[in-house]
Amino acid sequence: MKGENRPLEDRAAETIERFVCYGQGQVFRFWDTLSGEQRLGLLQEAEQLDLPKISEYVRQFLFPKHSKTGDAPAKNLSSPPYLNLPETRSEQIIWEEAYKEGEAALADGRVAVLTLAGGQATRLGRVEPKGTLEVTPVRKKSLFQVLAEKIRFAEQRYGRPIHWFLMTSRQNHEATLQFFRQHKSFGLQNIHFFQQGLLPAVDFQGKILLEAKDHITMQPNGSGGAIPALVSSGSVKILRDLGVDIISLCQVENPLVNVIDPHFIGFHLQQKSEISFRVIQKSYPEEPVGIFAAREGKTIFIEYTSLQQEQLLAQEPSGKLQLHVANAGIYLLDREFVQTFGRGDYSLSLHIARKKVPTIDLEGHPISTDSPNGLKFEQVLPDLLTLASRFLLLEGRREQIFSPIKNAQGLNSLQTCHQDQLKLFTHWLLRAGQEIPTDNTGLPPFAIEISPLFADNERTFLDRWATLPLKPNIAEGSYIE
Ligand code: UTP
Repeated sequence: MKGENRPLEDRAAETIERFVCYGQGQVFRFWDTLSGEQRLGLLQEAEQLDLPKISEYVRQFLFPKHSKTGDAPAKNLSSPPYLNLPETRSEQIIWEEAYKEGEAALADGRVAVLTLAGGQATRLGRVEPKGTLEVTPVRKKSLFQVLAEKIRFAEQRYGRPIHWFLMTSRQNHEATLQFFRQHKSFGLQNIHFFQQGLLPAVDFQGKILLEAKDHITMQPNGSGGAIPALVSSGSVKILRDLGVDIISLCQVENPLVNVIDPHFIGFHLQQKSEISFRVIQKSYPEEPVGIFAAREGKTIFIEYTSLQQEQLLAQEPSGKLQLHVANAGIYLLDREFVQTFGRGDYSLSLHIARKKVPTIDLEGHPISTDSPNGLKFEQVLPDLLTLASRFLLLEGRREQIFSPIKNAQGLNSLQTCHQDQLKLFTHWLLRAGQEIPTDNTGLPPFAIEISPLFADNERTFLDRWATLPLKPNIAEGSYIE
């Protein structure tokens, strides 16, 4: 690092002056009260920050009209082109071909999994990493276990080891490692952990916040942080050495995800896509989910917070929502593409989120708050499509792939996720000819569970079920493995 050999006082004087020039002198408010070791720690944190860039981020927040960020209000939007679910016989044949191509790539060992687990789960209000949350209806498996078992199932099915990369952040890295140690990595051999980058949080006036008298409040830099972190952690090199060119990416919070999805992989390869997105139909205008839209012939990604009410409500002549193509948070990345953009400072749009962030008052005491008290800067992965020369949006069925846990209660909570899992398991069993009572939403009156080690989607379930000489009786607490 620059100037590391110079006396501490010189380095400090220069850095403090620079912070004052940028209007960020408050970072050193407690300097006079700190020990030598604390001063060194704070100085090292401060020297890492790119102040011109942070000032630009703050300017974009304070003066949004001149903003070029991803949160800018969107104009003249329409639905983007995407590959829809098969409706006709010929479309089914095309999907079948893609499935076979995807399976061939899996059998050739070309696919690895990346799970984003660096988020802070502030809406869930948990201290432990989100992946440790117990989510399945009967066995109460954690999110991490569900994903791990889906990978184990695919390893057996395709006869190849599948490497699993997990992105954590400073806040949850140790706790995540500890959880995997405690559970003996759920029987998996090839797990790689790496940490994403951090950015400072600021208050609503744009002032960098302190987490303690000698620590700046640093926050994970968003899902887009996965790209540079994949390169800087050496993960891309590992992938290249393994002969993997397809990264199947999922978010830790969604136990319905097809971690390994042959249809998706097949289409991704056929279209020579650099980045592919699984999309779903938005279920109602105000659903809090990012959408893809077309503007001036280009496909763009927009966070739901950036859309105005009239855009949310706009309809096509058919009555369908105009902005109905929602992001399911499930992607495929081409390794070379990651390598190219992860190496340098690529220019992704910036998203600014109001969040609860740890900070202290003027006396240095921690402030406890129930509502957002600061701004977090994030880059988000879907914005990568603006950098890709070829990309793909592939439709999926929401009820089969998407049930994220975001909130402690209500929408996208553990409760809704339980129900979605129960409906999906029941649907598979009904398709296999079992008789199970349900209400008019497809929900059974009791808890059942199908282990990912038995099957990871409807197709593999029906294949496996057909081979069972004796079908189990399905009742309260049934667990199929
Ligand atoms: P979200 O931004 O929706 O959730 O991330 P969060 O950060 O976990 O929780 P809140 O917003 O504080 O309540 C969606 C997915 O992206 C990952 C999360 O772990 C989750 O799987 N993510 C998000 C990261 O890995 N890093 C980030 O910086 C942000």
